[in-house]
Amino acid sequence: MRDGDLSVIELKGIYTAYEGGDKPVIKDLSLSVGQGEFVVIGGPNGAGKTTLLESINGLVRITHGYAMVCGLDVRRSGNDVRKKVGYVIQNFYFDPFTPFTVGQVVMMGRYGRLGFFNRPSEADHRAADKAIRMAGIEDLVSKPIGTLSGGQQQKAMIAHNIAKEPDIMLLDEPFSNLDFRAREYFQGVLKDIVKKGTPVVMVSHAFDGLPDVKVRLVIMSEGRISADMVCNSGDVEGAVRRACVVG
Ligand SMILES: Nc1ncnc2c1ncn2[C@@H]1O[C@H](COP(=O)(O)OP(=O)(O)O)[C@@H](O)[C@H]1O
Ligand SMILES: [Mg+2]
Repeated sequence: MRDGDLSVIELKGIYTAYEGGDKPVIKDLSLSVGQGEFVVIGGPNGAGKTTLLESINGLVRITHGYAMVCGLDVRRSGNDVRKKVGYVIQNFYFDPFTPFTVGQVVMMGRYGRLGFFNRPSEADHRAADKAIRMAGIEDLVSKPIGTLSGGQQQKAMIAHNIAKEPDIMLLDEPFSNLDFRAREYFQGVLKDIVKKGTPVVMVSHAFDGLPDVKVRLVIMSEGRISADMVCNSGDVEGAVRRACVVG
């Protein structure tokens, strides 16, 4: 980040620990992300990419360092941070008997604003309907979420997070279950989100066909950032190969 820019994510020298884990997973990591940035996190399995997203979202304990997200101290205000952050998690799976339809799951994206017991307003319905259209899942709205394929569930969870209208969007390998056409489609959706100014931080191994925006590529290795560069979306794959070989 450049001096003077307003960072939406500001991590300085953080260390994290999982309950029962004896060693920190993230070690002395610093990262600033500003409005409208599209950050792709790469690096090998076990490097700490998912743990980094969970640190930003206050889902893993930060033992040392400074972590501000949307102007809130993550270490103290994790619940409030999570209301402002969209998070499409890696490899989730709904039980076939999950008693919610896709439409209800998308509307739950509004609950952080709404409060669980309040009725959705017109504006909430509009935001949910728009998210359903953006994700292209109009035909799934009344289906129980647990009866859908992995890729369809993934689309519903992306829609849930779009409906939330978050200040930051975190995505953990969001394309892993999606077919080629759905990937292409969501690249356009992500581009729209970035163009609106919402920063996106996406962990991915699929570097072909990222949205056509400037990409900030951050490579992680053993809980640290080993490279941080800006490139065009078409150059990311080569840059990852070089960074992972050199790093
Ligand atoms: N819930 C957990 N409890 C303890 N250790 C964990 C947990 N989740 C991940 N780890 C450990 O943290 C390290 C980084 O994992 P992760 O952030 O999932 O890596 P990546 O997403 O880059 O593949 C791994 O060594 C993993 O075993
Ligand atoms: Mg991971």
